[in-house]
Amino acid sequence: MSTLAPFANEPVLELRRASVRAQLQDAMNVLSDKLPLRVPVIVGGGERAGAELLSTDPGEPERVVAASARAGEPDVDAALAEAERGFGGWRAAGAGERAAALQRAAAWLRERRLELAALEVRECAKPWPEADGDVCEAIDFLEYYARGAVELEAGPELLQVPGERNDMHYAPRGVTAVISPWNFPLAIPCGMTAAALATGNAVVLKPAEQSPGCALMLVQALRAGGVPASAISLLPGEGNVGAALVADARVQTIAFTGSLPVGLEITRAAGTVAPGQRHIKRVVSELGGKNCVIVDSDADLDEAVPAIVSSAFVYAGQKCSAAARVLVHEAIADALIERVAGAVGVLVVGQADQLGTDVPPVIERAAQERVERYAGLARDAGRIVARVEPVPDRGWFCAPTVVVDLPRDSPVLNEEIFGPVLAIDRVSGIEDACDVVDGLPYALTGGLFARDPATVRYVRRRTPVGNLYVNRGITGAMVGRQPFGGNRLSGTGSKAGGPDYLRQFVEPRVVTENTMRHGLVV
Ligand SMILES: NC(=O)c1ccc[n+]([C@@H]2O[C@H](COP(=O)([O-])OP(=O)(O)OC[C@H]3O[C@@H](n4cnc5c(N)ncnc54)[C@H](O)[C@@H]3O)[C@@H](O)[C@H]2O)c1
Repeated sequence: MSTLAPFANEPVLELRRASVRAQLQDAMNVLSDKLPLRVPVIVGGGERAGAELLSTDPGEPERVVAASARAGEPDVDAALAEAERGFGGWRAAGAGERAAALQRAAAWLRERRLELAALEVRECAKPWPEADGDVCEAIDFLEYYARGAVELEAGPELLQVPGERNDMHYAPRGVTAVISPWNFPLAIPCGMTAAALATGNAVVLKPAEQSPGCALMLVQALRAGGVPASAISLLPGEGNVGAALVADARVQTIAFTGSLPVGLEITRAAGTVAPGQRHIKRVVSELGGKNCVIVDSDADLDEAVPAIVSSAFVYAGQKCSAAARVLVHEAIADALIERVAGAVGVLVVGQADQLGTDVPPVIERAAQERVERYAGLARDAGRIVARVEPVPDRGWFCAPTVVVDLPRDSPVLNEEIFGPVLAIDRVSGIEDACDVVDGLPYALTGGLFARDPATVRYVRRRTPVGNLYVNRGITGAMVGRQPFGGNRLSGTGSKAGGPDYLRQFVEPRVVTENTMRHGLVV
């Protein structure tokens, strides 16, 4: 059993306090003097500087937040060689020592939490509450997996009979490639990396090209905490760097969070056995979603409306868990539509560093174009009931949009948009709503607003989603409280921040010894 203090979530900042707000402004000023950050390729004890990749502020695209080197094939090769070298020592360190290093990394992040939040505001246009929440979640992952790895190392109790000793333990798999998205720029790479490291694997991290600055801070934290240089390397770059890692025979495990098409490509590529490869690669994937909130006729709209609006529009709908589609009982559909439209109509679209902002810009121009394409489809095939315009003209802003009356086969209802567009769809009842959810290829998060416990039981039994939230918003999963991850095409259902997650980074081994010795060899 772990001797560490029980896990508790890192408390978020009290942003209502004027003193806390003043601290955030100070942190932003300190960060601004350091921009642009320089992000090198970091392999073992060495660094290779470069500035081929620029990550910019989505709200002020001329502002360069990080100038980073772009890793190439020789860097991938060097990082994997280093990881293979470093694996043995890190594995031998034991879970207790590794946990201590992760906890020191958590302390490093905690000390710099304001500056880290400021970096997320700039690099990914995360509004302050979201940025602060992401830093807390990163700390939580380090603390939670540190404890989990110590417990896992003890191994389970097996049945023992006289004359035989049975022992089961979990060994790290080896070199882990971590490939992360930008939308939780610290917490997601941190979670996947911390899980792999805690269980004794060596990690090569390929962060999203949109957020290398945040990834640099993570690697600095881990190294400052005592993770050996050979056990964690950083390869900033684009998709080809991730693909090169996936294809390499030295990689045992691939931890990926990102879009469905890329996830499928990785799964396919990982299934090919490269020359010299003597193992089957494991892919841990967390992918996209098309998250529906069901609203029954008896729902309390005072609860449902604000929860739907914040689940759909916080961080401009760019959380994988965000609400994209509401399935409302036809008996109350008109009332709900009117109230959601009213609430969306007063959302404040603005810069992420303004505390009053509800909806920040989306991450990049391509995302803005994608969202506007879907908004156009919504306008053509449905009825727009809310659209917040005009939006600021500098930066990748999209007008928050609510659309109703779309045909059921509309792409707006069925594809992941990943932006501030919410579709409301009328259903004839809970069964119809569940049929719609069941017909979707994704199964990440979902919501239900209903008063009748029988309805809750029915939806709970029928819904395939990985995380169902009842009578509350559908975003903001907390480590240890809401293990998070999707089913079907939303991923391998691996449940980050939950008790099963670490097992994906280890392989179980059982040793059975006959203890009825006939003589003893001295
Ligand atoms: N289920 C979850 O927990 C979860 C969490 C966050 C984000 N997401 C999903 O992530 C997506 C948004 O993130 P994104 O835009 O960064 O996703 P993305 O798939 O475009 O990129 C993710 C990462 O994969 C890399 N990559 C791109 N092509 C690759 C290839 N061929 N081989 C290997 N790596 C490659 C990228 O460089 C990046 O580091 C959304 O679909 C969202 O739903 C899911």
